[in-house]
Amino acid sequence: MTDHARKLRWGILGAARVNERLLPAIAGAANSGLVAIASRRPGAAAATLARYAPGLEGVKTHDSLEALLDDEDVEAVYLPLANQEHAEWALKAIAAGKHLLCEKPMALRVADIEAIEAAAQERGVTVMEGFMYRFHPQHARILRLIEDGTLGEIRSVRATYSFTMRQARLYRVDRGPDQGGGAMWDIGCYAIHSLRMFIDAPPLAVAALAHYNGHGADTSMSGVVDFGGGRHGHFDFSFERARRSEYEIIGSKGGAKCHTVWQLPGDVPVLSWWTEDGWECVERLPPADHFRLEVEHFAACALEGKPPALSLEDAKANCRLAAAAIRSAASGRAEDVV
Ligand SMILES: NC(=O)c1ccc[n+]([C@@H]2O[C@H](COP(=O)([O-])OP(=O)(O)OC[C@H]3O[C@@H](n4cnc5c(N)ncnc54)[C@H](OP(=O)(O)O)[C@@H]3O)[C@@H](O)[C@H]2O)c1
Repeated sequence: MTDHARKLRWGILGAARVNERLLPAIAGAANSGLVAIASRRPGAAAATLARYAPGLEGVKTHDSLEALLDDEDVEAVYLPLANQEHAEWALKAIAAGKHLLCEKPMALRVADIEAIEAAAQERGVTVMEGFMYRFHPQHARILRLIEDGTLGEIRSVRATYSFTMRQARLYRVDRGPDQGGGAMWDIGCYAIHSLRMFIDAPPLAVAALAHYNGHGADTSMSGVVDFGGGRHGHFDFSFERARRSEYEIIGSKGGAKCHTVWQLPGDVPVLSWWTEDGWECVERLPPADHFRLEVEHFAACALEGKPPALSLEDAKANCRLAAAAIRSAASGRAEDVV
């Protein structure tokens, strides 16, 4: 059997709530199979499996994270632990020789991603940060409008992500950003990732304002990123505003808008775009499951030894900009992105 014909054998490291999306995606991906899931809370792995993939058979449950990493049936790990745990467990998974799909943010410090990169090169494993949204065809459609010149040169991008935080895990808001808490690491990383998707230049500086809760967690943030040459990225994200996940790009000849980035399976994606010479279009695309597309892409890369679409350079660049925005909000000054 060739690598192309076989399925990547996955283990899930943590009984996190996001498994509601990723567990069915791994179980349903054409080139993947789920072989194990682990949690440090006894019984939680089995409960997660029963809840999000009822009827799925042959999946082992482990009551420790180490046991899953020791499991030789597991070739690839999906890591959805709390943000501040990502770097530690990413390094452990790589040391165990596993390919790694790590939830965003991959780490809170660029130096940690550099360590992950070095470890992955040494072990020869595939590693990718889990920005699932990038695998939805709606973004490829907008990128085509740029590539074919319809929108002209991109001069400005605005990205807005929000929801009202109600029953989320406490760790998201009971600690400051240095410990992985706050909206930047949770949803702001999508906003700056969206800006960087469309402005093909390293960000130079960022100026941000934030609202903090009593634990020092940023619960809302707004800011402007200077990409040089008059190109600006505008972001705002919040745990205190009604649900939105959208971006708008403005070029020298026209603009385009993605109305709902956080597509759930079955949602109908809607894009709109216009040009100065009179075009105005609203496009409805076929529904697509970006979680499954992400898993299938990663599995194909791991099985075939190809570099994934989202590189570790991209992960480092996103982390660098997030950290600079956090610094700017705290200092009250624009900060260089270094
Ligand atoms: N891509 C996406 O669409 C998306 C969506 C949401 C979140 N995320 C990311 O995914 C990661 C997980 O987010 P999440 O909201 O799913 O996390 P979560 O449910 O809070 O779980 C994170 C970890 O905390 C532990 N945990 C969960 N419930 C617990 C409880 N009641 N008591 C003690 N520990 C508990 C679990 O580890 P054990 O199982 O070992 O106990 C779990 O793996 C984050 O990095 C987040 O940024 C991504």
